[in-house]
Amino acid sequence: MNTRFEPSGPLRGRVTVPADKSISHRAALIGAMASEPVTVRNYLDAADTRSTLAAVTQLGAIVEPRDGELVIRGCGMRNALPQHEVIDVGNAGTLMRLLPGWLSFQTGAVFELTGDESIRRRPVDRIAEPLTRMGARIEAREGRFPPFTVHGATLNGITYELPVASAQVKSCVLLAGLVTSATTVIEPVASRDHTERMLAAAGAPISRERDVSGGAGGFRTTVGNTDELELDPVEVPGDPSSAAFLIAAGVLVKGSRLVLERVGVNWTRAGFLRILERMGAIVLADLEAPGTFQAHEPIADIDVRNAPIEATTVTSEEVPLAIDELPLVALLGCFADGDTIVRGAAELRIKESDRIATVVEGLRGLGAVIEALPDGFVVTGTGGLRGGRLDAHGDHRLALLGAVAGLASDEGVEVVGMEAAEVSYPGFAGDVAELIA
Ligand code: S3P
Repeated sequence: MNTRFEPSGPLRGRVTVPADKSISHRAALIGAMASEPVTVRNYLDAADTRSTLAAVTQLGAIVEPRDGELVIRGCGMRNALPQHEVIDVGNAGTLMRLLPGWLSFQTGAVFELTGDESIRRRPVDRIAEPLTRMGARIEAREGRFPPFTVHGATLNGITYELPVASAQVKSCVLLAGLVTSATTVIEPVASRDHTERMLAAAGAPISRERDVSGGAGGFRTTVGNTDELELDPVEVPGDPSSAAFLIAAGVLVKGSRLVLERVGVNWTRAGFLRILERMGAIVLADLEAPGTFQAHEPIADIDVRNAPIEATTVTSEEVPLAIDELPLVALLGCFADGDTIVRGAAELRIKESDRIATVVEGLRGLGAVIEALPDGFVVTGTGGLRGGRLDAHGDHRLALLGAVAGLASDEGVEVVGMEAAEVSYPGFAGDVAELIA
């Protein structure tokens, strides 16, 4: 599906963005592991999070929609149903990496996981390695790609230093660690901590503290020995990564002034807002203090106005805190004064697409002056963007990037494959139309 986004008049008004994808996945998974029913308010209704509901249902949980909420009746930590059918994660990388953490301790059971074409190109060796060290057996195509099987076993605790800051890998190891005497994950720099917060809320013994040995601002998180999980109703905040597209549009489109309601402002997701602040953008929100660890997920309104912006350099510590928003930093860089530089972000190459290649190719096709680096990109701001055609390559964040580029461009942008946005933000075009009206 090709969709055109024309140069836009001011975006004005209030809008509620879709629910947080990361937190929705975790609510479904931890709900399925829980002993008592869990109510989830504002669960994201999008393709990725529907894949997670389908997977937990297949594994024996019952998901009941009730008065706009979901009630998840879990099967308990150790009682996932053995499977004859393959589990299809669709396009959901988070599901593919977190679910094996739970499956790995279903003693004696075997599970096969696969997904769409993009998923089958994304590596799982990064979870296979720690899970194997804990005692599970993982067999993957060519040793590292889906389809792959998880053979559940009795697990032993480990101390695992993440080779890269990845919240997905960290979460997988922590879920598996729930049945060990103690499992510690050390991350080189902080990444999103939604799993830790939800496990704390569910009564798991968990500690998270600054890792003083590494020196780069990472954390050391320990879990262990949990008999059962119980969770009070979960309220899913608006997704800061979906909000980021409207925030960027508000910053770039002349005369815009908009308020995004009830967005998650957990500091481990607020990197993009801090980068914007440095660029001189007018984005006001009551953010959580960096370093905070609490079971609760903070929520706030975000107030955005159009204003001129300056170039910035994103530091490697900021990368995991803004990982899904880095394509937008490239777009903003086109409009900023000076060179905007992102380094230390090689992880972008293994997202839903190779986001260094697809962002550079996509924006260059619209007139941007942008160079790829092995681990990031450099954009030279020219004060605007011509427009043209951008191929989403099946990647939701690329499709949404193209849409925002179109609104802020001189000639508009035709997004090839706009349906990819269904994965996280199905109502984007409708929300934009309301803000322009
Ligand atoms: C996610 C973590 C990030 C992010 C992804 C969602 C999560 O991936 O890019 O969209 O929900 O844990 P990595 O942790 O692999 O960087």
